[in-house]
Amino acid sequence: MSAKIIAVANHKGGCGKTTTVVHLASELAHLGNKVLVIDLDPQANASLHIGNKHPSEISVTTAELLVGDISLLADALEENTNFENVSLIYGSLNLGKTEDQLKDDAPRPSEELATKIELLKDLYDFILIDCPPSLKLLTSNALASSTHVIIPIESGSQYGLYGVTDLLNHLEKIRRINPDLKLLGALLIKHDERQNVCKLIKDEAYKQVGLILENSIPQSTKVNQAAIMQQSLVKLEKNSKVRKAFQMLAQEIVEKVQ
Ligand SMILES: Nc1ncnc2c1ncn2[C@@H]1O[C@H](COP(=O)(O)OP(=O)(O)OP(=O)(O)O)[C@@H](O)[C@H]1O
Ligand SMILES: [Mg+2]
Repeated sequence: MSAKIIAVANHKGGCGKTTTVVHLASELAHLGNKVLVIDLDPQANASLHIGNKHPSEISVTTAELLVGDISLLADALEENTNFENVSLIYGSLNLGKTEDQLKDDAPRPSEELATKIELLKDLYDFILIDCPPSLKLLTSNALASSTHVIIPIESGSQYGLYGVTDLLNHLEKIRRINPDLKLLGALLIKHDERQNVCKLIKDEAYKQVGLILENSIPQSTKVNQAAIMQQSLVKLEKNSKVRKAFQMLAQEIVEKVQ
C-alpha cells in the first residue's frame, strides 16, 4: 500500500476546502479505505469537526511536527476520531507562526511535511490535506507532499475563480520539487446546473483549470449542521443529495487515482 495523498487547496477563503476534506474522508472511509486527515490550517476547522478533542488540548499538532523532530510523528497521529476509519493529525492556532519558523530554521522549508509523513504512506490508503487560505509555506508543504491536488471552486459566486491563475502558477513551481503532482481537477462547490452564474463559472473554470471533476457538490445547510454536530453526513443525513454527491465524488476519485 502506498497512500494516495490529496491536497485540497485554493487560497481563496471559504470556497469549501475543509468541507471537501471532511466529507471526502468520511466517504472514502465508508468505501473501506483507511484514511488520514492532516490539518494544515491555523483555523483548525477540519480538526474541530473530525477530532474528538479540542485542538488546544493536543500537544503535537502539525505545527509542532513541521518544525520538530520526526520522532514526534507517533504522538501527532490520533487514530481515535469522530469518524470511523479516519485518523487525524490536528491543526492548531500555533500554525500561525510555523511559516516564519520554517523560513528561519528548516533546511528545506517547503519539504518538511513530505519528510515527516513518508513513514505513513504504508499505513493508509488515502491521506487528505486541508490547506489554509494562502499560497505560502503551509500550502507549499501540502503540495510538495501530495500525489494529487483538488481545487474547490465556489460555483455560485461570481468571484469563485478569483486568483485561480496564481494557484495554477504555484502548482507549476511546486512541480520543480514534486514533479509527479497531478491535478485531479476543479471541484464545483454549491453548484446548481440550473443557475446561469453556475453555468458561467463552470465554463470559465474549464477554460482556466482545464479539468473539472464530474461530480459537483450542491448547496446545502446540512453541511453546516454536520460541522456543528461534529458528524459525518453518512450518520446525519444518509439519503440527502449533498451526502450522495460526496459519495459519488469519493467513487470518482477512487477510480481516477488508480
Ligand atoms: N455545499 C455547501 N453548501 C452550503 N454551505 C457550504 C457548502 N460547502 C461549504 N459550505 C459552507 O461555507 C463555509 C466555508 O466552507 P469551508 O470552511 O469548507 O471553506 P474553506 O475553503 O475551508 O474556508 P477557509 O479558506 O476559511 O479555510 C462554511 O460555513 C461551510 O459550512
Ligand atoms: Mg478551511
